Amino acid sequence: MKGLYEDRPIRVAGLSCRLSISKRVTIVSVMAVLSLLLSITLLLSRASGTPVSTPRHKSCNTVDEGYQCFSEVSHLWGQYSPYFSVDDESAFSDHIPDHCQVTFAQVLSRHGARYPTEGKSKKYAKFIKDIQRNVTSFRGKYAFLQSYSYSLGADVLTPFGENQLVDLGIKFYRRYEALTRDTVPFIRASGSDRVIASGEKFIQGYRKAKLGDSKAEHSQSSPIVNVIIPETAGFNNTLDHSTCTAFEKSEVEDQAEDQFMDTFTPAILKRLEKDLPGAKLSKKEVVYLMDMCPFDTVALTRGGSQVSPFCDLFTRHEWVQYDYLQSVKKYYGYGAGNPLGAAQGIGFANELIARLTQSPVKDHTSTNSTLDSNPATFPLNATLYADFTHDNTMISVFFALGLYNRTQPLSQTSVQSIKETNGYSAAWTVPFGARAYVEMMQCKGEEEPLVRVLVNDRVIPLLGCDIDQHGGCKRDDFIQGLNFVTSGGNWAQCSA
Ligand SMILES: *[C@@H]1O[C@H](CO)[C@@H](O)[C@H](O)[C@H]1NC(C)=O
Ligand SMILES: *[C@@H]1O[C@H](CO)[C@@H](O)[C@H](O)[C@H]1NC(C)=O
Ligand SMILES: *[C@@H]1O[C@H](CO)[C@@H](O)[C@H](O)[C@H]1NC(C)=O
Ligand SMILES: *[C@@H]1O[C@H](CO)[C@@H](O)[C@H](O)[C@H]1NC(C)=O
Ligand SMILES: *[C@@H]1O[C@H](CO)[C@@H](O)[C@H](O)[C@H]1NC(C)=O
Repeated sequence: MKGLYEDRPIRVAGLSCRLSISKRVTIVSVMAVLSLLLSITLLLSRASGTPVSTPRHKSCNTVDEGYQCFSEVSHLWGQYSPYFSVDDESAFSDHIPDHCQVTFAQVLSRHGARYPTEGKSKKYAKFIKDIQRNVTSFRGKYAFLQSYSYSLGADVLTPFGENQLVDLGIKFYRRYEALTRDTVPFIRASGSDRVIASGEKFIQGYRKAKLGDSKAEHSQSSPIVNVIIPETAGFNNTLDHSTCTAFEKSEVEDQAEDQFMDTFTPAILKRLEKDLPGAKLSKKEVVYLMDMCPFDTVALTRGGSQVSPFCDLFTRHEWVQYDYLQSVKKYYGYGAGNPLGAAQGIGFANELIARLTQSPVKDHTSTNSTLDSNPATFPLNATLYADFTHDNTMISVFFALGLYNRTQPLSQTSVQSIKETNGYSAAWTVPFGARAYVEMMQCKGEEEPLVRVLVNDRVIPLLGCDIDQHGGCKRDDFIQGLNFVTSGGNWAQCSA
């Protein structure tokens, strides 16, 4: 884990940008430097008002915009992209309307950037050794591979990933200042170390922001992770799937992955085998080599201020294909492409309805009734909630809520643009440090509160109810539109 920091010279903030794929990328690098300078300037200008936003050194990451360096490729790493604030110039502004007051906010967040999972780590390490054993000469942009020593950790957050969650705590505090100033959020985490650690880092950022806020109520206790829901077999957990037997046995995701890999890996494989004489690659290994780019990047330095040399080995077009592969996997794994994908999100959606209406949870899917009927583990009177989870469960929740019902079934044979998928992609929905906000507000002249959903700062116009000019719906209409959720959907098929 440490090796990486010791072995490598620390290169300075984007200024020594190593990308050289094409002129286009050179221009992108220049833009990255410019945007970096711009963000530093912005940070400096904000710093005078709010002590928490002192510029972190070598940062490609800001509290408000997330990761913006090398965005022409770094926003194309599927769920391995670091969170970036999504701006699609959609019709809906993410600002809280002036005549409205937020009365409730729930954040559902993915953990921050992590090292590869244990299983993948072993595969990557072996693969790199195999390359080093087989290949007879390493030239040009491949030269680093000859002596690259795989030394990434496994499963846990990288320092960069921890920092992402600190940033989220700050951002959440600021956005919902009307509430955060004098209330404490109720916090749950799914029981894996990186998810729990994410909740703790969120709290760190939240406290930091509160300390810097002179208008805050400082006598209050600090937030804590109130509930950790175990990820052990048989434990009902709305923040991690596992109890739906038929779903766990499903092979829809693997089939879709295989099919799309067939369309784009052969050309890359051919080039790599030509450039790396002696290598004999499988299509999975082509993807492994691509995976190394985001993983090595988020492990590199605290600010992720440079990209890994692995990123240089592929063109932007190939990153578009890689990104789409990840979107296909999530769609057919946990979204509408899997008959039981959305069912995995029903439990959380029912908990959300209970919180929005301050009434007991009605669910017979993945909720644990012991936990959810106890005010100590599932209070109904809080106004701020934060839950920490995994990418897969977030996808299921999004589809249970129908947020991407405008997305047509994803092609498994050709890349579809983000326009064609109506704003659905793995990078736009569940990057490292992803966050969805469900906010409720009371607006002047309205009886019924308004509910909106934002995914990585993008307002998702709700479906199943009449949206207003802010992209939200009246609470009752919203809930009425969620009959898939309130009826228990097709959960019964889990035991089929
Ligand atoms: C539900 O939660 C309770 C309290 O933590 C626990 O004892 C029980 O094993 C859980 N049951 C299931 C099925 O998740
Ligand atoms: C290396 O060579 C071995 C033996 O031919 C082969 O089984 C393996 O797939 C090769 N791996 C790579 C990455 O070239
Ligand atoms: C756990 O979930 C199953 C399946 O929905 C349900 O039958 C059971 O009652 C739940 N257990 C608890 C403790 O909520
Ligand atoms: C919610 O209710 C519990 C008692 O059931 C109370 O201890 C707690 O202070 C209340 N919280 C808020 C935010 O009102
Ligand atoms: C989204 O689509 C699913 C599947 O067709 C449907 O069951 C659900 O009601 C829709 N949700 C909304 C909110 O429209």
